[in-house]
Amino acid sequence: MNLALNINDLGRVTEADRAHVWHHLSQHKAYETVDPRIFVEGKGIRLWDAKGKEYIDAVSGAVWTVNVGYGRESIANAVRDQLIKMNYFAGAAGTVPGALFAEALIDKMPGMTRVYYSNSGSEANEKVYKMVRQISQRRHKGKKNKILFRERDYHGTTIATLATSGQPQRAAQYGPFPDGFVMVPHCLEYRKQWDVENYGERAADAIEEVILREGPDSVGCLVLEPVTAGGGVIVPPEGYWPCVQEICRKYDILLHIDEVVCGLGRTGTWFGYQHYGVKPDFVTMAKGVASGYAAISCTVTTEEVFAMFKDDAADPMSYFRDISTFGGCTAGPVAALENMRIIEDEKLLDNTTRMGERCLGNLRALMEKHAVIGDVRGKGLFLGAELVADRKTKEPLDEKRVQAVVANCLAQGVIIGATNRSIEGLNNTLCLAPALIATESDIDAITAAIDAALTAVVG
Ligand SMILES: Cc1ncc(COP(=O)(O)O)c(C=O)c1O
Repeated sequence: MNLALNINDLGRVTEADRAHVWHHLSQHKAYETVDPRIFVEGKGIRLWDAKGKEYIDAVSGAVWTVNVGYGRESIANAVRDQLIKMNYFAGAAGTVPGALFAEALIDKMPGMTRVYYSNSGSEANEKVYKMVRQISQRRHKGKKNKILFRERDYHGTTIATLATSGQPQRAAQYGPFPDGFVMVPHCLEYRKQWDVENYGERAADAIEEVILREGPDSVGCLVLEPVTAGGGVIVPPEGYWPCVQEICRKYDILLHIDEVVCGLGRTGTWFGYQHYGVKPDFVTMAKGVASGYAAISCTVTTEEVFAMFKDDAADPMSYFRDISTFGGCTAGPVAALENMRIIEDEKLLDNTTRMGERCLGNLRALMEKHAVIGDVRGKGLFLGAELVADRKTKEPLDEKRVQAVVANCLAQGVIIGATNRSIEGLNNTLCLAPALIATESDIDAITAAIDAALTAVVG
């Protein structure tokens, strides 16, 4: 077999893909009659597929990852040079980019001091769960081992992280799950669960109610997304985060913020939690850390937490007995360093805030025209539009029609996303997360495509 890469022979590539690749999140029956979509090139915010069709990518690689855009030669060059010099050594030792990226990252995260490297968001989150369990065993005689998670949030695809899925359809077929993970209510005011003025405080109080029900001495940690992503782009209501912080302090519960989506600029600050003045004990991140140019995830914590893993050097088990083989790859941190330099030098946080406001304004204007848009929400370049069959009753638009809107945009050459098969009956939010380099004309082209798609699909 000829293994030489002949990227011009795209027919062969398509057939090889159809015959052998098992795509993520895909029902493959359709590929017996339709070609799988294969992307061959990207530049900035644009992509080209194997048939030569051009797209604006309004979701940064489908899952909010390519924050600095496609085709960044400076990242590719930094990775290349580093791989030739020193590609790998297990994380028990240090590497030059590993040390330098940890220092640069901590500089953006006042209050945090330690970075633990691994490869995916799921893995970074599971490291926290393991740390919490170890703290429970060593400090609390096995108490405080429960981890609370929130309805509609998502933290990963492994069995343990799926045990903290607030999106039932994702977990539905993969039980049984391990014990000790308990759900708290979501905080989406549009889908209110309490008729009160101060919704943020009420939604936070609901967490306290769960803690009291479970027993505060059984709860070790609370994991939350700063802005919920795949669960419907949920920006927490005013007053929510300060209350959450207070509750965690009151009951000595560690606060873990999952920044896998919001991390590294997506919402216009380096991290989503930095909008809310929160002081977390753990922060995890992955996708945008190196914009998909290399695999990297980080579990970041405070000196106080770190100290608990080194204070009894005489005990051979008194350390974090964990490894992630590819956490020792140097490509991740070297790509992440260059990714961070780009965000800083090109002032992409400011651009994200400005373009996010423009996009939100455009979506609000579309609400005037399309009654099917029940709510628009977002922070920075992370936005959602919830589609409803009836604005008064807020009955969600059927998932098939939501997907038809996405498909119509795709046919127009604009890739948008939508929540899908995550929360039965509520998979009705269009999602936008273009690269942080998006321009005004990119934003306007994206919302114009949504306008046309809504007219075509809904009328
Ligand atoms: C908030 C959040 N946490 C964790 C993950 C899991 O990350 P990964 O797919 O890299 O394991 C995701 C993935 O979409 C996510 O959205």
